[in-house]
Order: sequence, then C-alpha cells, then structure tokens
Amino acid sequence: STYQVGYFVGSLSSTSINRTLSKALMRLAPDDLEFTEIPIKDLPHYSPDFDSDYPPEGLALKQAIADSQAVLFVTPEYNRSIPGVLKNAIDWASRPWGQNSFDHVPAGVIGASPGGIGTAVAQQGLRGVLSFCNARQMTSPEAYIQFKPDVFSDDGEVSDPETADFLRTYMQEFRDHVERVLTVLPRR
Ligand code: FNR
Repeated sequence: STYQVGYFVGSLSSTSINRTLSKALMRLAPDDLEFTEIPIKDLPHYSPDFDSDYPPEGLALKQAIADSQAVLFVTPEYNRSIPGVLKNAIDWASRPWGQNSFDHVPAGVIGASPGGIGTAVAQQGLRGVLSFCNARQMTSPEAYIQFKPDVFSDDGEVSDPETADFLRTYMQEFRDHVERVLTVLPRR
C-alpha cells in the first residue's frame, strides 16, 4: 500500500530553496510515499468571521489535508519564525473550532536556509504550533539544511552523496513514522 503525503512549501518565492529541497525529498523518498502539494498562496488572511462560511480556498485546504494520510512542512525561516503565509495556512486548517484538520495527523518538519543553523529556530516554533494542533510529529531525526547551491540542482538532484544519504534516511524515517502512527490511528 502507499501513503498519501500532502506537503507544504512555506515560501512564495519563485526561486525558493525550500521548493528545491521539496523536490529533492520527493526524489529520495521511498516508493510507497505519494506526494501532493497543498497550496497556500491564494488563501485570504484568516479571520474568525469566515468560520460560518469558509471560502473555496479554505475549503480546498481542509479537503487537501483530509485527503492526505500525512503532512510534510518544508519551510524557510523568516526572522527566526515561520513565514506568515504558512502560519496563515495552519490557522485556516485548524478552524472552525472543533474541526481542526491536523488532529492526529502524522507530520514532518524540515527546512533550508543559506545560514548555518538551517531554519532551526523556525522549526522549533512550527513544532510548538503543530503540538497545539495535535499533529503527530516525527521528532527524530531533525533536519536543519544549510542550503548550498552547488549541492542541489533546480529540479532537486542532490550531487553530494552525504547530503543525499541524509535526506534519504530522513524520508525513510518519515515513512516509518507515518506507518507507526497510522497503525494506531488509522485515518481511512
Ligand atoms: C530571511 N532569511 C532568514 N534566514 C535565516 O536563516 N533565518 C532568518 O531568520 C531569516 N529571516 C529572513 C526574513 C525574511 C523576511 C527573508 C526574506 C529572508 C533568509 C532566508 O533563509 C533566505 O531568503 C531563503 O532563501 C528563504 O527560503 P526560500 O524562500 O528561498 O525557500
């Protein structure tokens, strides 16, 4: 059987290194993971005023998560936190109250930055948010990727074997995490 993974790229940049990282992860992932991007760029700013009548973008987001057996966040660090556009998407998915889309959903967190700490602070912040949203996070291994343009081609080929091994292991561990969570908490 295969696992459907919905992935979020926390950047709207047309040259996003995190999008490149997401392509590398999909290349290196085990064959039984199938990936669908969950788009976030067209969501309005969340307001509780929408709770009684979600717009199509908000409904599509919640449906995309419902259609996923696991979610993967590939995100930049903005000012030592996650980009607002990603937080906005999470806020949309967590509501209306009582209909939190992340409840018990297996989740992974990863990110890339040119800087040495590789989105570590943003990831810690994201983990706090996902804890409150009751997602079932993979907590180990962690992956703080210092992005080197000579290591990743634009379409996600990884030329450095050590980096490729690390990312391959990360995705195998993610797959095993998803399987473990779904064994206890089957989604469908
Ligand atoms: C950054 N960047 C950044 N990098 C980092 O390691 N820690 C940080 O706190 C920040 N803060 C930050 C704020 C804002 C507003 C921008 C635009 C950028 C640099 C960031 O890592 C770099 O631009 C990456 O290329 C962003 O990822 P994407 O968009 O290329 O995927």
